[in-house]
Amino acid sequence: MRFELVRNLKGDEILGKTLFDGYGKVLLPSGTKLNTPYINRIKQSGFYYIYIEDKELDDIKEDKKIDQLKQSTIERLPNVFTNIMQGNKDTVEESFKIVEDLAGYIATEGDVNTNLYEISKYDNYTYIHCVDTAIMSIFLGRSLDLKIEDLTELGISAMLHDIGKIKISNEIINKKEPLTKQEFEEIKKHPVYGYRMLKEAGVDNKNILSAVVEHHERVNGKGYPLGISGDKVSDYAKIISVCDVFTALSANRSYRERYNPNEAYEYIISNGDIMFDTKIVEKFKENFFIYPLGCCVKLSNGIEGYVVKQNKYFPDRPVIRVNYDHITKEKINSYEIDLLTTFNTIIESLVY
Ligand SMILES: [Fe+2]
Repeated sequence: MRFELVRNLKGDEILGKTLFDGYGKVLLPSGTKLNTPYINRIKQSGFYYIYIEDKELDDIKEDKKIDQLKQSTIERLPNVFTNIMQGNKDTVEESFKIVEDLAGYIATEGDVNTNLYEISKYDNYTYIHCVDTAIMSIFLGRSLDLKIEDLTELGISAMLHDIGKIKISNEIINKKEPLTKQEFEEIKKHPVYGYRMLKEAGVDNKNILSAVVEHHERVNGKGYPLGISGDKVSDYAKIISVCDVFTALSANRSYRERYNPNEAYEYIISNGDIMFDTKIVEKFKENFFIYPLGCCVKLSNGIEGYVVKQNKYFPDRPVIRVNYDHITKEKINSYEIDLLTTFNTIIESLVY
């Protein structure tokens, strides 16, 4: 598979990875041969990048299991939120079980490299954002050696982190223009709203409650609602804040254009010890990579190629497969450049 910008699609490509809408329903299954109506549908649904089949990159595969788990979690999430809103104490704890399968799979078999993602404009209060943040938090928690029970708890906290936004009016949430001071003050209440909703629904797990109320706190004390700093911020909140910001920046927000994957990544790295905990940012760097598998990049020597393998601990130095001439754009016999051992070459940019 390769990672392709939707606006570059011509109409003869095969979809490499199933596309879902914001509610976990299949928009188009993998294997679909694209045509103009399908491409229009993909555009209307707000996708910027998708995965398409590419024979020369067929070693990059989707992880069907994690896609399945992600889809069923998204599908069941509206129900979880309704249970919490209605304060159905008996069903709330029960509904958290959906995270157990996700945490169990990631803890034992999940490969962070195959957690491939499309980039779409879904806003950050949607179910997709909640589940993406949960998946990423569980991966990050695994790298911090958390036990399986803790990973499940962390995943539940991440899944619920923005539940308080339900209490904020849609006009503010979807506003295209920058928020007024007053509107921003209202948005800033969502961690407390979420905390109260969970308490009222009978959730008494302190780790979950503090993760939800503290997910916008920052280690420099400049977060909200409490303005606490350093180790006063709970561990789960520190993990979730990194994943929340990364996932939100990778998506398109209503009031600005989306970041590219590398820009969102660099934003996190440059904020280690300012906004985020240094140790967690170090783990982020060890485990997540700047350029997703299958994306096309331009090297400092002018050559262009596709990211086919990551090098752990070196997020900006993956293995690149070159299969066309960057000047004539004609096919050539493919070869690979391992940036870990090619010292004088760096990635300059993504190829659009
Ligand atoms: Fe939030």
